[in-house]
Amino acid sequence: MNGRPRTVAARLAYVRAALDAARRVLVVSGAGVSAESGIPTFRTGGGWWRGRRSEELATLAAFRADPLENWEWYDYRRQIVARAEPNPAHRAVAAWERPGRNVFVITQNVDDLHERAGSHEVVHIHGSIWRMRCLKRGGPVWEDRRVPLPKLPPDCPCGGVARPDIVWFDEDLPRDARTRINNYFREGRVDVAFVIGTEATFDYVRSYAARARKLGALVVEVNPRRTQLSGEADVRLVGRAGDILPALT
Ligand code: OAD
Repeated sequence: MNGRPRTVAARLAYVRAALDAARRVLVVSGAGVSAESGIPTFRTGGGWWRGRRSEELATLAAFRADPLENWEWYDYRRQIVARAEPNPAHRAVAAWERPGRNVFVITQNVDDLHERAGSHEVVHIHGSIWRMRCLKRGGPVWEDRRVPLPKLPPDCPCGGVARPDIVWFDEDLPRDARTRINNYFREGRVDVAFVIGTEATFDYVRSYAARARKLGALVVEVNPRRTQLSGEADVRLVGRAGDILPALT
């Protein structure tokens, strides 16, 4: 840990001091930040649905093969998200916002718990479970928060089939999300970068931490277990986000 404090209490104090002095804070979050709200994670739970793995379901090919089964899975997830409430981790991140301090959240999650906790700058790189769009590229995009959905698969206003406005494994990240993230990093120094509740499976997730470090950030991982990012973190706070983040606020 490059001479950084070794005990849990000393690590918390070290990160708390860095956060107190910070003017620009980056948060990169994954499914683990919503785990304590009752939303299952992808790789560290027992599979997401009917024993199927998300990698089997969350692809354009799987959707085209069986739009009804795909929508049954998303309707099931929408019902879980609708019942979920922001947990102390989401609320702590929102509470870090104050005059003179910007908190920018890049989330892989498709739930809206960061926003519901009060965070104002949230970029969803994998889309939103509450948005739908036409299966045809370039078609309409709209929000629909009805749970359960009255009809599966739901119809697109154009008369075609609607799909979730969520990034599937065989698809690129949304252009507007990439633009917002690039603009953020172009704006200058980052003081602290928290990577919270993610396996950091995707290289672009690890790249956000690396870009923040190049801009001066202390990189802090918050996770009960080691991940693909752990070796690149300056400080690892080992535990549940709902316990650790409020202790930093
Ligand atoms: P994963 O399910 O891969 O990993 C969840 C992470 O959260 C693990 O590292 C857990 O150790 C950690 N975790 C669990 N409970 C926690 C808690 N209470 N506090 C803190 N951490 C906790 O989920 P992600 O890494 O977010 O993408 O997965 C990223 C993406 O892979 C998802 O957005 C989705 C999935 O496939 C797409 O569908 C494109």
